[in-house]
Order: sequence, then C-alpha cells, then structure tokens
Amino acid sequence: MNNTTGNRSETWLERLALDGIVTRLKELTVPADALTWNRFFGALLLVLLVLVFLTGAFMAFYYSPAPGSAYDSVDYALFTLPFGDVIKGIHHYGWNLFLIVMGLHLVRGFIFGAYKPPRQFVWVSGIFIMLLVPAIVITGDLLPWDQKGYWSTQVRISIIGSVPFVGDFMVRLLQGGPLTGIVALTRFYVLHILFLPCLLIFLLVIHFHFIGHRGLSGPLSGNTTSRPIVSFFPVMFNRWLILFLSVTLLLGFISWYWPAPLGDPADPTDSTYVPKPEWWVLFLNQLVTIFKGPLSVIGSVIIPAGLAGLLIALPFIDSSPERHPARRKKVMLVAAMMAIALVVLSIMGYLEHFRASHS
Ligand code: HEM
Repeated sequence: MNNTTGNRSETWLERLALDGIVTRLKELTVPADALTWNRFFGALLLVLLVLVFLTGAFMAFYYSPAPGSAYDSVDYALFTLPFGDVIKGIHHYGWNLFLIVMGLHLVRGFIFGAYKPPRQFVWVSGIFIMLLVPAIVITGDLLPWDQKGYWSTQVRISIIGSVPFVGDFMVRLLQGGPLTGIVALTRFYVLHILFLPCLLIFLLVIHFHFIGHRGLSGPLSGNTTSRPIVSFFPVMFNRWLILFLSVTLLLGFISWYWPAPLGDPADPTDSTYVPKPEWWVLFLNQLVTIFKGPLSVIGSVIIPAGLAGLLIALPFIDSSPERHPARRKKVMLVAAMMAIALVVLSIMGYLEHFRASHS
C-alpha cells in the first residue's frame, strides 16, 4: 500500500484525512477582542453546556426511568457511587449557572446593541435557545422522582392544561394519559436526554453559523479598521480549554462539599405537599398567582408569549445602526422598566413561597 505523498511519508493527520480540517481551523481567525472579559459569557455558556451534557451522559449509565426504581437509582448514584455526588453536583450547579450566564449574555448583547443589523439572526437564534432551555430543565426535574420534582410537574401540567384550545392535547401528549406515571416519566426522559438536547445543538449550530457569517460586533466607537485578530486554533481554543478545566474544578469542588439536593421519594397520594418554585421561574409563578380564574390565561400565556415575541422581534423593531447605549435612551428605558418588573415579581414570588412557610 502506498503511504507516501509524493516522495515524503504521510503524517497521521493525512492518513486519517484530517489534515484539511486542521488547516482550515488554523486559518480561522477571530477579532482579538473575542478574548476579553466583555465576551466571557458566550465562552462560559459553551463550557457549561459541554459539562452539563457530559455529566448527564455519565448519570444515564445508572439512571432507571421507571417510577418504582428511578428514585433509588438516583439515590445510589448520589450517595454510594464513587464521585457520584460530584457528577450529579456538576450537572445540578452547571445548569443553574447556565441560566444565570445566559441571562447575562443576553443583557450584554442587548446593552451593546449586538442584535442590530447585520446580526439579527444571531440574536433570534439566541432567543430560541433561551426559550428551549427551560423545557430541558423542566423535563429533567421529574426524573429523580422525588416529592419536589413530582409535585412541581403537577403544577406545570395544570398550567399547561389551562392553555385554551391546545392545553388538554399537550398534557396528553406529554404524559401519555391523565396521570403522571410510567409513560410520562419515559416521555420526559426521552425529551430530556435526546430530543431537546439535539434541538439545542441544532440551534447552537445556527447561532454559530450566523456569528461566523456576520462576525462579532465591533467596538462601540465604530472604529474597526485597526481591529487586531488572533487565530482561533490554538489561541482561542486554548482559552476555552483553560476555562473548561477551571469551571470543572470549581463546580466539582462545590459539589463535593455541598451535594446536589434530593428530596423524599415521590408520593402521588400526598397532595398536602406544596412545591416551592425554582428561583428562575418565580416571576412566572407570580404572574399565574396574580391572574386568577378566567383571567389566568393572561399570566400563563399572553404575557410570557408577548415577552418572547417582543424579544424575537427586537432586532426588527429597533434596527437603527446606533449601538451606543447612551444614545438609545428609549429602548434602554423600556428594557429597564421590564427588568424592574421582573425583579419585583420575583421578589413577590420569593416572599410568598419562601417567607410565608417560615412564619
Ligand atoms: C447555549 C447557549 C449559548 C451559547 C453557547 C452562546 C455562545 C455564544 C458565543 C461563544 C458568542 C461569541 C462570543 C460572545 O460575544 O460572547 C455568542 C455571541 C452572541 N450571542 Fe450567544 N450563546 C448562547 C445563547 C445566546 C442567547 C440566549 C442569546 C440572546 C439573545 C445570545 C445572543 C448572542 C449575540 C447577540 C451574540 C453576538 C455578540 C456580538 O457580536 O457582540 N446567545 N454567543
């Protein structure tokens, strides 16, 4: 067999037909400001995503998706398996941190006008990612089959069921029947580990496709003529690797000392259990509490859907080339008011669900 190229012997990269990819990677450049703190959140999101996927894959080795065995399998992985607490902890703290960093990444993109032309679809794909992530978290919540996950799912199912026209159908589709039993757990499991993560990867590919195509937004001064560049591979790649190792160590350390929570096993007959909402959903919960009876659709559908629609439409509503926050007073004011409403609703939700139970 001929293993030479011309009169020199083939390298391993050539033998594996990877030389073309490596050459293209080495030719890839990014603006040097892609390495600054200002852009930290995008890289951190990527690192957290890889960590959450990896730890989830390890947990799947031990998880048993049936109501009779799910809780015990999680309990075993958490408390008996060597480093099981670290793996589950990194998954748990990882997705919590992911939600925070995703919010910061969005706020940064908003303040610096990174959604403006020609980057409209970088923003839109990001918003679709942001809308998908809660579905991944919610489907994962049921899997340990503990009281909190089970009863939180009941609350969510009843909110979904109250959506006019499609509510009943969506509940049947999700649960496979009127009750949260083995079919529901199987469906949540498959959605959580297969369909939704694949959709997330697909959306992320689109996000990066647009970032690559339209480039990262330049400095606010508008002076892009002297913008230095660095190679993506190895300079940028190595930064991401260092970030990955640091975050793994940090989250691993936290998980070792403060293991992820696991409540009592689910008891579907114990309807006295009142689940406390997660921190990131407090404002939505409060909306549902404020609008009761025939008005409930306002809190559960109209306001959240309106907000999502507004975020998606933002680059097309505010499409002027001006990116400097100080010269975009109107849009900044509206956003600040919405942010204040969000914080106030979350505080109200916190006081109602967490303080009330202590008094
Ligand atoms: C899995 C989630 C996500 C990952 C891994 C991710 C990753 C990244 C990365 C690595 C960049 C380039 C570096 C940077 O500017 O930070 C970026 C840019 C950007 N992302 Fe995301 N992103 C995610 C979700 C989102 C979300 C939820 C939004 C909200 C709309 C968003 C909006 C943007 C925008 C507008 C840019 C362009 C920034 C600029 O050109 O200055 N991304 N993203």
